[in-house]
Amino acid sequence: MPPVLSIKNLTKTYASGLCALKNINLAIDKGEIFALLGPNGAGKTTLISIVCGIVTASEGQVLAGGHDIVSGYRAARSMIGLVPQELATDTFETVWATVTLSRGLFGRRRDPGYVEKVLRDLSLWDKRNDRIMTLSGGMKRRVMIAKALAHEPEILFLDEPTAGVDVELRRDMWTMVRGLRERGVTIILTTHYIEEAEEMADRIGVISKGELILVEDKATLMKKLGKKQLTLQLLEPMGAIPAGLSRWPLALRSEGHELEYSFDAGGDRGDIPALLRTMGELGIGYKDLNTRQSSLEDIFVSLVSERAGHAGGAEARS
Ligand SMILES: Nc1ncnc2c1ncn2[C@@H]1O[C@H](COP(=O)(O)OP(=O)(O)O)[C@@H](O)[C@H]1O
Ligand SMILES: [Mg+2]
Repeated sequence: MPPVLSIKNLTKTYASGLCALKNINLAIDKGEIFALLGPNGAGKTTLISIVCGIVTASEGQVLAGGHDIVSGYRAARSMIGLVPQELATDTFETVWATVTLSRGLFGRRRDPGYVEKVLRDLSLWDKRNDRIMTLSGGMKRRVMIAKALAHEPEILFLDEPTAGVDVELRRDMWTMVRGLRERGVTIILTTHYIEEAEEMADRIGVISKGELILVEDKATLMKKLGKKQLTLQLLEPMGAIPAGLSRWPLALRSEGHELEYSFDAGGDRGDIPALLRTMGELGIGYKDLNTRQSSLEDIFVSLVSERAGHAGGAEARS
C-alpha cells in the first residue's frame, strides 16, 4: 500500500532568510500514530502548516492520499484534519454551528448524527448551543478538535495537543486518538510530553533545527538507544570504587551510599551476576537494589543535545 502521506525533499526558507526545514523526507503509512518530537523552533509547526496548505514550501513535494498538496489542493486538504497549536476560536458562533459549518466547507453532505457523535465523544454535547467565546480554554480546545474531525478526515494532525490542557482533556484526547486509529485514521502529532509519545506512538521522528535527524519504530528506538541502570543501596558507604570492580562502568552516588551500574538495554543483562558475585567476594554488602530503563525522554534529550552541543539538553525540555 502506498503511504497515506509522502513528503519528499521538503525545504522551507522563510522570507526572513531563516531555513526552517532542510530537505525533509518522510513517508507515513495509513493507520499509523506518528509522533514528531523536537525542541521549540525545530520546525514542527512549519512542517504541519505546509502539509495543510497554510505555508508554502520553498522546494519539494507533498502527497496526501496520492494528491499533490499544491496542484490537487482541495482533494488533498479534504483528507486532512488539523488541530492547530494556537487557539483561534473567539467567535460568536455556537459550537454546533461552527462544527457543522466546518464540515460543509469541505463539501461533505450534512450529517447531524455524525456531528452529534463527535460532540458527545468530546464531552461538548451539553455546550452545543453555547457561543464559543464564552467557553473556557479547555472547552475551546475541544471545539478545535471537533472542527478538525467534522469532515471525517483520514489524516489528523495534532500540533502540541496537550500543551497546557487539563488532565481530563488529555485523557479524553488519548481515548479519542485510540478510537480514531481503530477506524484507520492516521495520526501525526507533535508534543513536548515525551511520555505521551512513548505511550501512544507507533513511530517516532526527531526533528532538530529543521532537520529530521531520526525516524524509527518506537520499540526499536527504545531498544537501540535505551540504557538500563542497576542501583545498589550499599550497607556501608564507600569513599571510592575498589580496584576489584574496575571492569564494570560504575559510579558512586548519594555520597557513596549508592553504587550505579549502567549498561545497554538492548543487549543481555550486562554482567550483573558477575558484578554481584565479585562484590560478595570483596565483602561489599547491599541492602536493596533497583533497575531503571531510560525513558524516551532521556533518549530524546541526549539525541538533541548531541547535535546541539551541551546547551541543547536544556532547550529540549523547554
Ligand atoms: N512566519 C514565519 N516567518 C519567519 N520565521 C518563522 C515563521 N514561522 C516560524 N518561523 C521560524 O521557523 C522556525 C521553526 O518554527 P516552528 O515551525 O514554529 O517550530 P516548532 O513548531 O518546532 O516550535 C523557528 O525558528 C521560527 O522562529
Ligand atoms: Mg510549533
